Amino acid sequence: MGKIGVFDSGMGGLNILQAIRGIMPEYAYCYLGDNARVPYGNRSFETVYQFTRECIYSLLVKDCPLVIMACNTSSAKALRAIQQNDLQRWQSELAPNGPTLKVLGVLRPTTEIAGQLTHSGHLGLLATRGTVESDSYRIEIERFFPQVTLHQQACPLWVPLIEEGRIKGPLTEMAVKECIDTLCNRAPTMDAVILGCTHFPLLTSVIRHHLPPHVQIIEQGPLVAQALQHYLHRHPDIESSLDQSGTCTYLTTEDPLRFNRNASLFIQASINSQQFHLMIPNP
Ligand code: DGL
Repeated sequence: MGKIGVFDSGMGGLNILQAIRGIMPEYAYCYLGDNARVPYGNRSFETVYQFTRECIYSLLVKDCPLVIMACNTSSAKALRAIQQNDLQRWQSELAPNGPTLKVLGVLRPTTEIAGQLTHSGHLGLLATRGTVESDSYRIEIERFFPQVTLHQQACPLWVPLIEEGRIKGPLTEMAVKECIDTLCNRAPTMDAVILGCTHFPLLTSVIRHHLPPHVQIIEQGPLVAQALQHYLHRHPDIESSLDQSGTCTYLTTEDPLRFNRNASLFIQASINSQQFHLMIPNP
């Protein structure tokens, strides 16, 4: 019986994990935060692919046949490459007789819904520099909603501030205001904005304060959770291979005490994480 793995470069994926466990508490989960190497958002394609590949492989080895890539930067830059280059090989190496190994990202569940939430046809995206530069959101939105225009804004300072626990204060206000003002000036008719980084829901109140009141904020947690629930209904073979003990293990590549402390910003429960050494897949 396998667990559902949830991966993020740091703490942001805890938002996604929380939303998933909110509607599917029965499964067993394993969260991995690559806190030693966060942020991913300002790194090259090659580096994000290499880091993400190591984390996903490690979760697959740790009995997680189904992994949610709860990191937009990784989903935008590395998901397709892992699905195309690695997954089949890892299937033969790690589970030749099943279960089927699956890795799902967070872009698709967001983009297939987000276009319905704009009336003006102008949608905003707040994300890391890497996600914006990949242009993945624009490509996906265009596929589902060709009439919608996406206005993208990179927010390179937000993740480092959040990982430092600075979810309030003058520095954070300044960093948020600058990006929101730039986006709103470029897209005055925008009426909905996607938080396209799993860290950003922590800044919702600051973002709300600087956004015009009529602009709706779209958070990914509920969208990803619902998409996963539908996916499991459509794939009973995968669903029946999952452990239903309702447990959750937390792994971090950095200091577990620091992880436990910062995790309290994201989730109310007290967390007892373990330090984890990544397993390096063959090239
Ligand atoms: N939480 C991640 C995302 O959704 C990445 C942040 C980072 O590592 O820069 O993009």
